[in-house]
Amino acid sequence: MKATSIAPSNLAFIKYWGKKDEKLRLPLNDSLSMNLSNLTTITTVEFDKRYTDDVVVIDGKREEKEGERVIKHLDLIRKIAQMSLKAKVVSKNNFPAGTGLSSSASGFAALTVAGVKAAGILLSQKELSLLSRLGSGSACRSIPDGFVQWYRGNSHATSYAVSLFPSDWWEIVDVVTVVSRRKKEVSTTEGQKKTASSSFMKIRLEGINEKIRLCKEFIKKRQFTALGELTEKEALEMHAVMLTTDKPLLYWLPETVMMMRLVRKWRREGIPVYFSLNTGQDVHLLCEKKTQKRLLDKLKTVGEIKNIIINTPAKGARLSNNHLF
Ligand code: DP6
Repeated sequence: MKATSIAPSNLAFIKYWGKKDEKLRLPLNDSLSMNLSNLTTITTVEFDKRYTDDVVVIDGKREEKEGERVIKHLDLIRKIAQMSLKAKVVSKNNFPAGTGLSSSASGFAALTVAGVKAAGILLSQKELSLLSRLGSGSACRSIPDGFVQWYRGNSHATSYAVSLFPSDWWEIVDVVTVVSRRKKEVSTTEGQKKTASSSFMKIRLEGINEKIRLCKEFIKKRQFTALGELTEKEALEMHAVMLTTDKPLLYWLPETVMMMRLVRKWRREGIPVYFSLNTGQDVHLLCEKKTQKRLLDKLKTVGEIKNIIINTPAKGARLSNNHLF
């Protein structure tokens, strides 16, 4: 059977960085995110006896390296479905992959939902989230709707994400400013292996539960300034860990730092905007809907920005009838 799913990427206000179990992708801490309406992956999966090998095509290219990770995920689905049919997987991102915009989150969420349906099995949302996590940790947060918490758990069955608030809870906007198409040099999976070597990691973990509590409260009460301040501090804290691991990880370009400084300048000028960063050079700018126009006017004046992608809170992964083949 053939099935297609479309899934959003997500932006974490409280980040996932560091695992206590590499194989199961169990994180060291809970994280909290928002699904993004305009960073999406669409994936079609077909299991059929006419395929003699698994075939993986991502953004029009037959994948060998990334294909292995996809095939491992297909194996998990085949195990649950108790079948051995080979599959064809075709996947398309509407944004550049491998540049720190979390294509593995949208990618593995879409692969899970399409793959499970194509294998003819029925899983609950919690089970889909658990299974997505095994492909890429942050993918488990792209399954439920809107504003999402990933419970770190202490076993496969207890580490999954749930929706805290629906996508229409709050009109906030995440404007992604793309400053380079350069692919990152160290993958998130590789980078995270070193988190324990940062002396800040212990301190980070001591304060993380309070951060989660505050973040939930700010979203619940729609307190934008408080959420913005927390988000910005949290992104910098994650990068402080990255910068202080053995073989420090530096994901920023000069343009990244320039954007961070501009955000602070615009705030001083009265525009309520805050930034967040993942493992890439591009910068996420958070504002409320009512501020979007003023922010976009400012962005037009920055020549270094190659592209902007405007996101609102979105629903999680879902099935679609628009098969890619
Ligand atoms: C910086 O989910 O990509 O985006 O589980 O190894 O695939 P793996 O890692 P991944 O890590 C995401 C890290 C982050 C922060 C976040 O989204 O929480």
